[in-house]
Amino acid sequence: MVKRSNSAIYITRRLPGPALKMLKGLDITLHNGKEPPTKEEILKRIAGKNAILCMLSDRIDKEIMDAAGPQLKIISSYSTGFEHIDVAEATRRGIYVTFTSDILAEATADIAFALILACARNIVSADRMVREKKWEVGWMPDLLLGHNVHGATIGIIGLGKIGSSVARRARGFGMKIMYYSRRRNEAVESELDAKYVQDLDELLAHSDFVTIHTTLNEESKHLINAKRFEKMKKTAFLINTSRGAIVSQRDLISALKSGMIAGAGLDVFEREPIEKTSPLLAMKNVVLLPHIGSADYITRSKMAEVAARSILDVLVAEKEPNPKYLVNPQAQP
Ligand code: DGY
Repeated sequence: MVKRSNSAIYITRRLPGPALKMLKGLDITLHNGKEPPTKEEILKRIAGKNAILCMLSDRIDKEIMDAAGPQLKIISSYSTGFEHIDVAEATRRGIYVTFTSDILAEATADIAFALILACARNIVSADRMVREKKWEVGWMPDLLLGHNVHGATIGIIGLGKIGSSVARRARGFGMKIMYYSRRRNEAVESELDAKYVQDLDELLAHSDFVTIHTTLNEESKHLINAKRFEKMKKTAFLINTSRGAIVSQRDLISALKSGMIAGAGLDVFEREPIEKTSPLLAMKNVVLLPHIGSADYITRSKMAEVAARSILDVLVAEKEPNPKYLVNPQAQP
């Protein structure tokens, strides 16, 4: 059992919810700034710590683990994605890597659906028109006509927890559901009448809304690129609430400009925040959000609770640590 005096924790951002209370009594170093800490700051602050509670914006690599020293026991990420952590290196050193798993599935599915509706029914342009006092005629037969959501086909890439939650919402909206996934999910297929396709291009060719819910890794980087856009319907929308780099942003911009697809709803970008010079900012056929998929009070608070609980499970465990949301069980002795 690790004693409390051996429980030095570096937290890289102030969190909503109960994390700080839960970790009270431990030796906490908190990065209080609005901006994420720089790599230099992390290198300095992590020295001698037993745990780090980090965000998806903090790259935790070998250099950081070296700077921490051998007493670092756990990297607890306040996120579902963990591509910012060198998990193989952590495992090699016996460092537990934990994440917030499916805690944010429903919240992210809500945002994906918000983007679907916003894109299909011109919600953002309509709001803008009213505020800019450009609504000059009352009701009009052809004002801001959009596309059907009800009855349309949704193509879900990745049918894990978030993808399945999106599929449930799609069912409620009377949509036809197709999905492409590494693993076939027969339970969801029969529950929601979802059609599995083995070929991504088939999904792209038939979907009115293509929505991405897969994780970012070497295989999925730029999975959606110029060749894939060619396969999509000209009337289709691309929705991305997963990770920006799954889509080639350069190819997306060309596809939007040339009318190869109708539009896109994006909560994530290859670089965050998005570059101030990005052509996306001037496009009318996109809805852009600042990575807020999980940003509701309850979800963010639960994520904080889970991230703090993982640290407690490892640092002040009575027996062999066994954190619930472990990315690398191989790190266990
Ligand atoms: C995550 O946790 O990976 C999300 O992208 C944050 O909303």
